[in-house]
Amino acid sequence: MEIMKRLTWAHLPDPARSAFEAEFGQVLTTSTTPPGLTVGIASRVETERRTVFVKALPAVSPAFPDLDRERIVGEALPESLPAPRLRWSSTNGWLVLAFDYVRGRRVDLTRDSAAVMTSLMAVSRLLRSSPLPSLRPISEKIGALMEGAHAAVDSRPEQIADVDVYKAVLEKADLTSFEGDSLLHADPALSNLIFDGSQVLFVDWALASNGAAWIDTGLLIPALIESGFTPPEAEKWAAQHPAWSLAPPDTLDVLSVIRPLFILNKIQAGPDWLAERRRATLAAHEAWARHRLKLPAVWPG
Ligand SMILES: Nc1ncnc2c1ncn2[C@@H]1O[C@H](COP(=O)(O)OP(=O)(O)OP(=O)(O)O)[C@@H](O)[C@H]1O
Ligand SMILES: [Mg+2]
Repeated sequence: MEIMKRLTWAHLPDPARSAFEAEFGQVLTTSTTPPGLTVGIASRVETERRTVFVKALPAVSPAFPDLDRERIVGEALPESLPAPRLRWSSTNGWLVLAFDYVRGRRVDLTRDSAAVMTSLMAVSRLLRSSPLPSLRPISEKIGALMEGAHAAVDSRPEQIADVDVYKAVLEKADLTSFEGDSLLHADPALSNLIFDGSQVLFVDWALASNGAAWIDTGLLIPALIESGFTPPEAEKWAAQHPAWSLAPPDTLDVLSVIRPLFILNKIQAGPDWLAERRRATLAAHEAWARHRLKLPAVWPG
């Protein structure tokens, strides 16, 4: 399978482009972000009045529900949240979102982990009581991870050292222990964080969900390990978050186990072009799981 091609500004049909230009003025230059997992336009767009970051998709696209969720969430996020503001949206056959353009750089956890924690705490404080209580629960995402994890242990047990320990964790897993009243970003990958010179901003709220306040912090632990933290150091970092102490240890075990198993399943079942990138993150995810389950550090599978 090929890497997904991204739509670019040139694909935007006329009615949607005219609506955009009526709001922001004539477009002068555009530059697209490199292809990712999503097909939609994700471009820096400079107009005669300002520069914005545009995300857009045809309404008939299978990815429409995610972008529409990003619109709904963007409209509900408080102004002081460390996230680019959604300034405008339109639906003219295409859904078009225009955010403040952030001038910044990629986050490097070896130097920015404190800034990431500061922003995580701000997000939790401001979204402790979700402004969108009817948004989907995080158990949907956790359930999808769980399904992939079950597929991995069922179909490829020989590739997983200590597979019985993992199975036991999956069997005891209780999805309701992830539930909560906070609005979570739910996809705090490094590609969704930008350091703007003074703080870390969370972009791409397309997968936002309601759940327990400690989850975004927990989801970042493997990224810290991949950046060179040991698992105990990464957990010490997480423990600075005021909600971390509320995370039930058994639930953290489940979170730590389902992601490497999910990734393992994706490597086998997914496209080749992603397998290499996934293998690179797998070791860090495994390291956290094996630390939590007090297993020897290496997982040869
Ligand atoms: N408001 C913004 N200002 C500047 N850059 C941004 C902004 N929002 C996102 N970006 C950059 O553009 C990239 C793609 O944006 P985003 O993650 O929202 O799109 P996506 O279509 O969901 O892509 P992917 O599938 O790669 O996650 C981000 O990784 C980030 O580097
Ligand atoms: Mg993204």
